[in-house]
Amino acid sequence: MLKNSTKLIHDGTVVATDVLRQDYILLSVRADDRPRFEPGQFMMIRLSDGYDPFLLRPFSILDEHDGVYRFLIKVVGKGTRAVRNFRYGRRVFLTGPFGNGFPRGAGHDTVVVAGGAGIASVFSLVQKLHERGTPYKLMYGARTEDELVLSNLLKPYDPAISTDDGSKGHHGKLTDLLAKGIEHTKTVFACGPLPMLAAVKAVTSRRGIECYVSLEARMACGFGVCLGCTIFDAKGNTRRVCKEGPVFDAKEVNLSGIH
Ligand SMILES: Cc1cc2nc3c(=O)[nH]c(=O)nc-3n(C[C@H](O)[C@H](O)[C@H](O)COP(=O)(O)OP(=O)(O)OC[C@H]3O[C@@H](n4cnc5c(N)ncnc54)[C@H](O)[C@@H]3O)c2cc1C
Ligand code: FES
Repeated sequence: MLKNSTKLIHDGTVVATDVLRQDYILLSVRADDRPRFEPGQFMMIRLSDGYDPFLLRPFSILDEHDGVYRFLIKVVGKGTRAVRNFRYGRRVFLTGPFGNGFPRGAGHDTVVVAGGAGIASVFSLVQKLHERGTPYKLMYGARTEDELVLSNLLKPYDPAISTDDGSKGHHGKLTDLLAKGIEHTKTVFACGPLPMLAAVKAVTSRRGIECYVSLEARMACGFGVCLGCTIFDAKGNTRRVCKEGPVFDAKEVNLSGIH
């Protein structure tokens, strides 16, 4: 069995590319070493053999079993489109894990909120809370049932579901569920589209509940050097999403100022 590695540069081999629906792929990569990671951290993956796209792309680590790392990839552009052609045995270059991840020690009365592809960032957090026996609630929402792409994998974690069109679970916004289900909550962890995160921040701050949000930004290096992922915090200071984030205390970031 591979020991955990602290290296930040890795090679791996594709062991599966499962198309969950046309625009979502579950990519499984067996790493030659076994990088240790914390929930909420991400890796940069080279998606082409050549220079187009030249830059590696950031993806949250969904989970890891016996050295196989899974990534949930939403196809949005040139790099992610290339993943559709990844075949068993293809060699892959990765760097990381990078970023701070979700704060440790967040204990009881935890609610985890995932909107759409945001489930990728919180999936391993939910696994960890579940394994530890920490009480938590998972809330998972999307526009339609079809977009709840990880529903099957999430069954053991008994998610409360919402869809904007009412095709599954609560008919309406995920934040409606949140507003109703957090009377005794101490901490909320959330990942999803920015408008959803802004609504989660509003609901939690009104009730004085601690809230951490995982953010996305265009990234070039992933480890704090290029400054390409810089955002402004609530005080107007710059923060690198790859280094000080991607998980931020919601009250410290100005979610409406991020594009
Ligand atoms: C820390 C972090 C974790 C992420 N985790 C995941 C994940 O688990 N699964 C997943 O599917 N995606 C994730 N992303 C987003 C993913 O990195 C981008 O979708 C990907 O880089 C797009 O590459 P592309 O070459 O296909 O798109 P491009 O051709 O480069 O761009 C296509 C479109 O996507 C937009 N876009 C590209 N990159 C980003 C970005 N980083 N944030 C917001 N919009 C972007 C562009 O503005 C453009 O409109 C994460 C991003 C970050 C920063
Ligand atoms: S991606 Fe280079 S500093 Fe964040």
